[in-house]
Amino acid sequence: MQDYKNTYEESLSNNDAFWLEKAQQRLTWMRPPSVALQGGFKDLDFTWFADGQLNASVQCLDRHLAAQGEKTAIIWAKDEPGEYEHISYNDLHARVCRMANLLQSQGVERGDRVCLYLPMVPELAVAMLACARIGAIHSIVFAGFSAAALRDRIVDAQCALVITADEGLRGGKRVPLKEITDAAVEQCPCVETVLVVKRSGAKVAMKPGRDRWIAPLLSAAPARFEPVCMNAEDPLFILYTSGSTGQPKGVQHSTAGYMLYAGFTHEMVFDLRPDDVYFCAADIGWVTGHTYIIYGPLANGATTVMFESTPLYPNASRYWQVVEDLKVSSFYTAPTAIRAIACEGDAPVLAHDRSSLRVLGTVGEPISPEVWQWYHDCVGEGRCSVVDTWWQTETGGILISPLPGVTPTKAGSATLPLFGIEPLLVDDEGMELPGEASGNLCLARSWPGQARTIYGDHERFAKTYFGRFPGRYFTGDGCRRDADGYYWITGRVDDVINVSGHRLGTAEVEAILIAHPGVAEAAVVGCPHAIKGTGIYVYIQCADGFGDELEKALCACVRKAIGGIAVPDTIQRVPGLPKTRSGKIMRRILRQVAQGNYTDLGDVSTLADPSVVSAIIAGHAGQK
Ligand code: WTA
Repeated sequence: MQDYKNTYEESLSNNDAFWLEKAQQRLTWMRPPSVALQGGFKDLDFTWFADGQLNASVQCLDRHLAAQGEKTAIIWAKDEPGEYEHISYNDLHARVCRMANLLQSQGVERGDRVCLYLPMVPELAVAMLACARIGAIHSIVFAGFSAAALRDRIVDAQCALVITADEGLRGGKRVPLKEITDAAVEQCPCVETVLVVKRSGAKVAMKPGRDRWIAPLLSAAPARFEPVCMNAEDPLFILYTSGSTGQPKGVQHSTAGYMLYAGFTHEMVFDLRPDDVYFCAADIGWVTGHTYIIYGPLANGATTVMFESTPLYPNASRYWQVVEDLKVSSFYTAPTAIRAIACEGDAPVLAHDRSSLRVLGTVGEPISPEVWQWYHDCVGEGRCSVVDTWWQTETGGILISPLPGVTPTKAGSATLPLFGIEPLLVDDEGMELPGEASGNLCLARSWPGQARTIYGDHERFAKTYFGRFPGRYFTGDGCRRDADGYYWITGRVDDVINVSGHRLGTAEVEAILIAHPGVAEAAVVGCPHAIKGTGIYVYIQCADGFGDELEKALCACVRKAIGGIAVPDTIQRVPGLPKTRSGKIMRRILRQVAQGNYTDLGDVSTLADPSVVSAIIAGHAGQK
């Protein structure tokens, strides 16, 4: 622990030297950098290693071939239990080169955006790395999003090429990805080509001149492709995520800083060893999959598992069956999955040999001390390290986490910052809160993995993350620091909610609801949910003449506009929303009532019509 403290102090006091040395050691450069950080949080012009040149796919592939070309890079765990496919570094390199040649032959060039709307199949990893090899920017859209959500993301990034599959297979169910893509692309004039992976073999419509099956094109493409020499700061990818206002934003990451941070944190937080089999059960459609299924593990030459299924298919033993089958050493998932499994008791866990496990990680939402303890005692047999890792799409990688075997843990705390990371807590006025305190979690300085901008909208980037507390990156999270300096993330303090570990803006859902003629006004807040962590609680003021069917219709609208993850758990009709005299909805009250907290509603004297509150409380109690 003293070593951690010394290195941590050193990483802050000699920040540039610390990161420059790491960059020179850990990345394979075409031209090594001579500088670390330039610019900063004042002008929001920060760059890392800006004069260096490299290619991200080289970090993940080429440099491993000589020493360990036959080592397994990816184990694809298919939807059906017991079905695995091993892909060596040599194989992966060849497949990525073929894909890069194919993309180039379809007109994809350096800087172009490519949309990947794929299930958890190897082609997704291959396409990511092929984009990186060409210098194209991938924009992965989670395959649970609807056609409308896909369309918005394709149009925002102006993608000319989309890669999808005939169908996705997940938990024994089929997801009609090609059909959804067709509906989206119809409204995307920018799209010229759709490449289709055959996964289920279902019959799908292929539009001549636009759609092509990918397999024959790949086998005809050459298995060599020279990686393009990219600048350190060239974008590697865009990933859309929800904020408190408006449409999801395209968070843009850099090549060198991101790659360095992904590999460095993956090795450190999972205490990576040469023969490890590392299993992150996230979907690559989210940032956890980008950094800790693909870029981090492959940069480290590790063996990484790509899991196509769900934690409950065919039963609650599934993860542990994979652990036993593949002798997994590190396992990484979200608290929502742990809660879903814990519900079924210990037996499904105990049914499988977990002696290979060493590190157990969680990410995406706060984990309660009880669930943490169950993960530690039951899954980890009390002998594995549990790492509660806090980070965000925008941070590129983990910022606050224990280091296995080093940091003494406390159930429910993400513990301490990683090297080079300087968290601070501020009050609502931006005053720094030292020592033991609760406040808004900010970061005082940049780190290499930090997102550089929002695609096409640097002003929005500035406003979203640096507007509220100038000179500091504001995370949107509330947090407590205890007497030992440990951080306890308490959840979002803005209008973003974490539903099953997936980020959702309440404003996005509200916009869909009020578009329905049956809804005069709507407000969406989070509410406690046993499995999802946070559920979606909707208050609507109904227009006249809409009967019982309205709620169902609204759920269908949300499913269509965003996807299944955004469908409300509860819809409560109210006679009016609690508003201040200036017309602002008092969400605090709505949040409290949704939690079942009817007393202690704080100052309600500014309400235009206090009587709506008692009606809302009565209605909430009636829901139970
Ligand atoms: C939440 C996921 C508590 C937090 C990597 C953050 C967490 C948001 C934790 C980012 C954790 C993530 N404990 N809360 N260990 N990890 N969060 O962008 O609210 O999908 O702001 O990135 O998830 O979600 P995102």
